[in-house]
Amino acid sequence: MKIFIDTANLDEIREAAAMGILDGVTTNPSLVSKEGHKDFRSMLEKICAMVDGDISAEVVSTNCDDMLKEGRELAKIHKNIVVKVPLIKEGLKAVKVFSEENIRTNVTLCFSASQAVLAAKAGAYIISPFVGRLDDISQNGMELIGQIVQIYGNYNYQTQVLVASVRHPIHFVESCLLGAEITTMPFKVIEQLAKHPLTDIGLEKFLSDWDKLQKN
Ligand code: G3P
Repeated sequence: MKIFIDTANLDEIREAAAMGILDGVTTNPSLVSKEGHKDFRSMLEKICAMVDGDISAEVVSTNCDDMLKEGRELAKIHKNIVVKVPLIKEGLKAVKVFSEENIRTNVTLCFSASQAVLAAKAGAYIISPFVGRLDDISQNGMELIGQIVQIYGNYNYQTQVLVASVRHPIHFVESCLLGAEITTMPFKVIEQLAKHPLTDIGLEKFLSDWDKLQKN
């Protein structure tokens, strides 16, 4: 299981990388806007310098030709850049061309198994189904992950399943059990993965017992 962080916050990326568990970074226009990175290129260069893994950078055009122009420029920034493309018809056309040009793509905003099949056939390197946003509308997001993993296995599609819109540790554990290749999470969820109340209680006891020994 590869762990990506879903943020454009450089401090969070630095902190997660220091934990030794980070395999990549996903960003999207909302996350970049939240952090106020007006210079997208410079933000990506900084992230690429911090993390040696796939770094997703999303295009903001909605027609194939403009997506291709944007994506080709993004791909030139660093060898680890993966061009993120929305799962719309124009996006699929762009994914096909990118794949012929050996530019890797992360196809985002996937909410159905049929969309995921099309992305794989177009040549996506990564598919990003959004589980939390499905849960938000009373559809089980993890069921979709199970379907995509099974379908990709049935046909031996090489596209990696990246579980996105992750809201809590159960999403992560279920992704591991289902065999998805990647989970991307906000920093808060990465921190939650490491937390256990018994670890905290146990550590407090060890340290207070050690203290007692020093005082006697
Ligand atoms: O980066 C895409 C995805 O992870 C967004 O998550 O929480 O905005 O649904 P969220």
